[in-house]
Amino acid sequence: MADLPLPVSRPIALPQVPRWVSFRHSVALAANPIPVLDGYLSTYGDTVATYLGGIQPTLLTRDPGLIQHVLQKNHRNYPKSALSRGLGRFLGQGLLTSEGSYWLQQRRLIQPGFHRQRIAGLTELMLGVIDESLAPLQAQAARQGGAVEADVPELMTALTFRIMARSVFSTSMSEAELQRLAALLTALQAFYVRTVRQPYLKLWLNASGQYRRHDALSAEMRELLRGYVRQRRQAARRPGYAPPNDLLQMLLDARYEDTGEPMSEEQVLDEAAILLVAGHETSANALSWLWLLLARHPQEVARLRADMQAVLGGRAPQLADLAQLPYALQLIQETMRLYPPAWIMDRVALANDEYQGVPLPKGTLVSAYIYGLHHSPRLWSEPEAFRPERFGKDQLREQAAPAYLPFGAGPRLCIGNQFALTEMQLVLLEVLRRFEVEPVDTGHPGLQPLITLRPRTSFRLRLRLR
Ligand code: HEM
Repeated sequence: MADLPLPVSRPIALPQVPRWVSFRHSVALAANPIPVLDGYLSTYGDTVATYLGGIQPTLLTRDPGLIQHVLQKNHRNYPKSALSRGLGRFLGQGLLTSEGSYWLQQRRLIQPGFHRQRIAGLTELMLGVIDESLAPLQAQAARQGGAVEADVPELMTALTFRIMARSVFSTSMSEAELQRLAALLTALQAFYVRTVRQPYLKLWLNASGQYRRHDALSAEMRELLRGYVRQRRQAARRPGYAPPNDLLQMLLDARYEDTGEPMSEEQVLDEAAILLVAGHETSANALSWLWLLLARHPQEVARLRADMQAVLGGRAPQLADLAQLPYALQLIQETMRLYPPAWIMDRVALANDEYQGVPLPKGTLVSAYIYGLHHSPRLWSEPEAFRPERFGKDQLREQAAPAYLPFGAGPRLCIGNQFALTEMQLVLLEVLRRFEVEPVDTGHPGLQPLITLRPRTSFRLRLRLR
């Protein structure tokens, strides 16, 4: 049969959430946007024009083709939005917050530092931190007749922050400094989220001095980091000094291809701050959700334990073992499908564009709704069910556009994805090697989508010595 002529594409009028509806939802949106956004998409379709907080127009989408178009295929037309870049005010111009040719130059410079081999060099350090964090719990459990209750999000946040801080700065940080840095980063992120979620508060936040107060916290954070960078530089002048194999050293040793020059101190601070932020909360949240799910799915835990027994016996995992334990990765992948830490990504159109007839005029803010993508009934059967076998070797199917993007897509794909996957697998295996995990709190903690998707309330698990 001869091919029929293709219909001439005509602009498609997108469904629009009426402004008054989005305005009416602005309080609910500030509290938890996910049910509001899910409601819009199930009412109007996979792509819808709406207003954030009743003010900021945006194109919200869970269409995998449009998300791929924006993040990957036509990425040059879609830099991050001012919303994403706003974080730069408090954290500086690192990889996550910079744009254009400066970003590209930095990405090229830093990318080799995240090569598999480099990550392999950090796994000993990760295992050391995991051991340090779990040993006190083992001791406490032993004193208490064999079990201890742990606040999971708190434990995972402390653990991943420690892993990240050590991966960047090795052991140069004292416990008090570690705590202060974590508190500063938490306060800065919380304030930034408020400015995005409640744009109508901007004047008040300015007038009440809150911007100024957070600028001061940001300066404090920077000075703390500056101290470590200077210490390292001074140490390097000592004869016979052997620099540690950490990410700070990687940043200090990196040289621009064209000039052979290293980064300035300010640039190193920018990148170090971004690594700390981008690298810990995401993994902490993924791990917290993982434990919530595993406490409720003992069969899946039993299956992983059987694999661990076959591959590890009772010993600690090494990097090379991970390839023999694919189910550990599947559990993590399915967790990040259900609870993607980076649950939404913003881009803005530089020039007029269109996608399959949908006009994307210059200035359009596109919200790539990854949570919606990962829960789309069009793309996943029983999307709310925890089924790690979806990520089994035999199950992976070719899709026209990716339905699973926990690390983003295109040139701005997460630079730390291998780091994160390795870290999370090691945490999973090390906790299970030492403890049985049992639920304590019943009920779901709820969703708190800030920059990353956190559990709304804390929850505990009983860790019983094995
Ligand atoms: C479960 C853990 C993680 C998740 C889900 C995650 C997710 C993401 C996503 C979705 C992006 C792209 C954002 C966008 O395009 O707008 C991103 C970027 C980034 N991530 Fe991660 N990340 C994780 C862990 C890490 C770790 C451990 C590090 C560092 C060691 C890291 C460092 C970065 C950096 C520097 C960027 C910016 C890259 C660029 O724009 O060139 N991430 N991450």
